[in-house]
Amino acid sequence: MTENAAAHYSEYLMVDPLLTLQQPLSTHPEHDELLFIIVHQTYELWFKQIVHELRAARGLLFAGLTDRAMAVLTRIRTVLKTCVSQVDILETMTPLQFESFRTRLGQASGFQSAQFREIEALLGRRDRSAVAQLRPVDRMRVEHAMAEPTLWDATCHFMVSRGQALPTSILERDVRVPYQPTESVQQAVLTLYRTDQSAALVFERLVDIDVGMQEWRYRHVMMVERTIGSKSGTGGSTGVDYLRTTLFQPVFPELWRVRHQF
Ligand code: HEM
Repeated sequence: MTENAAAHYSEYLMVDPLLTLQQPLSTHPEHDELLFIIVHQTYELWFKQIVHELRAARGLLFAGLTDRAMAVLTRIRTVLKTCVSQVDILETMTPLQFESFRTRLGQASGFQSAQFREIEALLGRRDRSAVAQLRPVDRMRVEHAMAEPTLWDATCHFMVSRGQALPTSILERDVRVPYQPTESVQQAVLTLYRTDQSAALVFERLVDIDVGMQEWRYRHVMMVERTIGSKSGTGGSTGVDYLRTTLFQPVFPELWRVRHQF
């Protein structure tokens, strides 16, 4: 029996409050500001889903539940693909159209997206500079995520459940510090790739997620460059120059380091 069943579609989804949340700040208002807000809000919703699924995938990998972990990783990969393709929509806005309301953003920037930093933390980022831009309440949330095991920590335990012996220095490492790639883990990855099709598929899903994150960063920086060129960001960074430094940083370095050995 379902408890507290909703009476209506609009009530279940809270459509009325949802539709009051798009509040352009430009005075006329500028036509494209609504798109800018909706695209960002949609991203924040997808980020929420990714955070939710990353924690689920991590739990399933820790528990060695391969099929269920695969299903969740596949969903994360698919949501990321949507995030990447959604860049197309905002790219229909010209630099001039953006300029018409850009000053209204003040210092607001995706730099301050707590959920994006939470995703990075769950994927292994341990660099405290990521939280410097956040409001105190958001900072606590991201610091909490930085003290949790990463998706890769869970993958190391998953490898043990598939019969690989990994050192305790990996399995019981201090998860608050950055993970250091090691030869023994790469050896286990290689063995599983060669001998265990299910584990190999899990690794491939992780590579998909890695590629998805990197693709998002690339599409974002190209969108930024075509929209503001070499201007600095509203969040205070150098803009495109800064964003370029975040490209081509693999999320799961171990999965890349072994590939020349096949
Ligand atoms: C016209 C569209 C956009 C422009 C011009 C733009 C511009 C920028 C710039 C210049 C930065 C560097 C930080 C700063 O100084 O502000 C940045 C960072 C960021 N933006 Fe955007 N952005 C746009 C759209 C989006 C969208 C749709 C999202 C989705 C949530 C987003 C999320 C982010 C995130 C997460 C960062 C931090 C990246 C990192 O530090 O690795 N941006 N953006």
